[in-house]
Amino acid sequence: MQTKKQIDTMYRTHTCGELRLEHQGNETTLAGWVQRKRELGGMTFVDLRDRYGITQLVFDENSSSEDIEMLKALGREFVIQAKGTVRERSSKNKNIPTGEIEIDVKKLKVLSPADVPPFTIEDESDGGDDIRMKYRYLDLRRNPVRENMVLRSKMAHAVRSYLNEKEFIETETPVLIKSTPEGARDFVVPSRMNAGEFYALPQSPQVFKQLLMVAGFDRYYQIVKCFRDEDLRADRQPEFTQIDCEMAFVEQNDVLDTFEGLTKYLFKTVKGVEVEDFPHMPYSEAMANYGSDKPDTRFEMLIKDLNSVTKGKGFKVFDDAEFVGGICAEGCAEYSRKQLDELTNWVKRPQIEAKGLVYVKCNEDGSFKSSVDKFYSAEDLKEWVEVFGAKAGDLLLVLSGEKSHMLNAIGELRLEMGNRLGLRDKNTFKPLWVVDFPLLEWDEESKRFHAMHHPFTSPKSEDIDLIKTKPGEVRANAYDLVINGVEIGGGSVRIFDSELQAKMFDLLGFTKEEAEAQFGFLMSAFKYGAPPHAGIAFGFDRLVSLFAGLDTIRDVIAFPKNNSGRDVMIDSPSPVAEAQLEELNLKLDMKEE
Ligand code: AMO
Repeated sequence: MQTKKQIDTMYRTHTCGELRLEHQGNETTLAGWVQRKRELGGMTFVDLRDRYGITQLVFDENSSSEDIEMLKALGREFVIQAKGTVRERSSKNKNIPTGEIEIDVKKLKVLSPADVPPFTIEDESDGGDDIRMKYRYLDLRRNPVRENMVLRSKMAHAVRSYLNEKEFIETETPVLIKSTPEGARDFVVPSRMNAGEFYALPQSPQVFKQLLMVAGFDRYYQIVKCFRDEDLRADRQPEFTQIDCEMAFVEQNDVLDTFEGLTKYLFKTVKGVEVEDFPHMPYSEAMANYGSDKPDTRFEMLIKDLNSVTKGKGFKVFDDAEFVGGICAEGCAEYSRKQLDELTNWVKRPQIEAKGLVYVKCNEDGSFKSSVDKFYSAEDLKEWVEVFGAKAGDLLLVLSGEKSHMLNAIGELRLEMGNRLGLRDKNTFKPLWVVDFPLLEWDEESKRFHAMHHPFTSPKSEDIDLIKTKPGEVRANAYDLVINGVEIGGGSVRIFDSELQAKMFDLLGFTKEEAEAQFGFLMSAFKYGAPPHAGIAFGFDRLVSLFAGLDTIRDVIAFPKNNSGRDVMIDSPSPVAEAQLEELNLKLDMKEE
């Protein structure tokens, strides 16, 4: 709660969340928005709201005729100022902190009238998503929405205080830059002064933070806007915020320790939660056990490989499949035909794209009932059950097909079952580091390798020899922070040797000239004494939404974009004037000559 001293201004002496019985008899001036107005037996009650709370104002027969007149016109969301005396309420409201007092108003002033808002400004509004986005400034008046923004502000403050304490220098890097190779499309900005040329908005400050290490800054951070022109999802916005950091003279574990420390500090100071030390899980283990590089470790239900116990029994679907595997859903043997059909349809959806779902019920009497009883005897099914260590009452769910696709699909099914079984409690937090990511990722479309993280990530020294022979098997000194199945952050130990960096560009299919044109500045910087360095960036919006227990980062961004990348409030993007296009050398001559 704010103290009087901090907000005492020319317009008000107290906030609407501040006054208590102990203030009885005090003269006060409040200002805020009209939440509601009620008339009751010759008295008028107005609930006055500001960011800090609600205070009841009272007008009665002693009020001035001027005030009574003004009261009549007063509607929801009018901005008013009221001077009066704090007094004890006769009927107290135990639900709000100011519920024991009210203000006997002596003077009312309307500071600003208001149209009737298009939706109710209540914790539970009657407004749909679209209308609330169009009038986001009204939506932000609602407590739950504002509270998310307050949480965000608190977290940013805590991040700064932790990193400042650890000698990080907060440094701003430019927003008008040239393309950074982060993997998404760039937003580009035409340059008026350089006809036909464009800036790009940063997908991250990656190269700048590495240059700051060459500059000897030693430890850098920035809470910074990044821009990526990619398809939007609940956890993606075209402009989002990173806690971006880089450290010199460090190895991987130094970075992990520092940022595990930051994460624990945030949990402790902002949420009052102590989290345990973060386990380190190799990428390969995450993929095999969870079918995901961002495993939700709040629950087990690990994926098991059933290849060795399912093949060669005449069931063609499994015999032909590269991979047969599944999960064990504890206590679900009672699932009805309808529930199993529903799950089958769920895995067949285009998002999952499995061909079908095989189940085995482990009945209480020790028998098994499966959807493939024709091909597998009770003895066979017992072998499956043993792979899972399943017990009576459990349900096995099995998929088959191409391995990486199936691991992914079973991973999704695992999350769905986790939801259905209530195993993904929003108040349980399970952070972990996923480490040893592959350095490269094969891209079918362009038929070449791409950097899985970015091209500045160093390969593991023990895997360097594989670069020529089996590039796909080289592991990187790259790591992600994952909490509850959400990728909160990612980073890597960088290459700091210009020759190795040149080799890396070559491997990624850049010609010498292309590498020079795009990253010449970085490679030459490395020739002037580059310290070993490593870094990480957290997705700040994702971290705040995790702390707030929300499913979408939109709710922790004051003015977010919708799923088509539009700001429906200011109606952007929008066309620009012909003259402006001309000035930018962008005028398209649409007319046929
Ligand atoms: P990366 O691309 O993994 O790494 O991004 C870091 C973190 O940023 C968040 N994030 C996003 N959040 C919201 N909307 C988006 N569109 C979006 N894209 C990414 C994620 C992610 O983990 N320069 C490197 C970091 C480094 O190597 O130091 C980078 O940007 O939480």
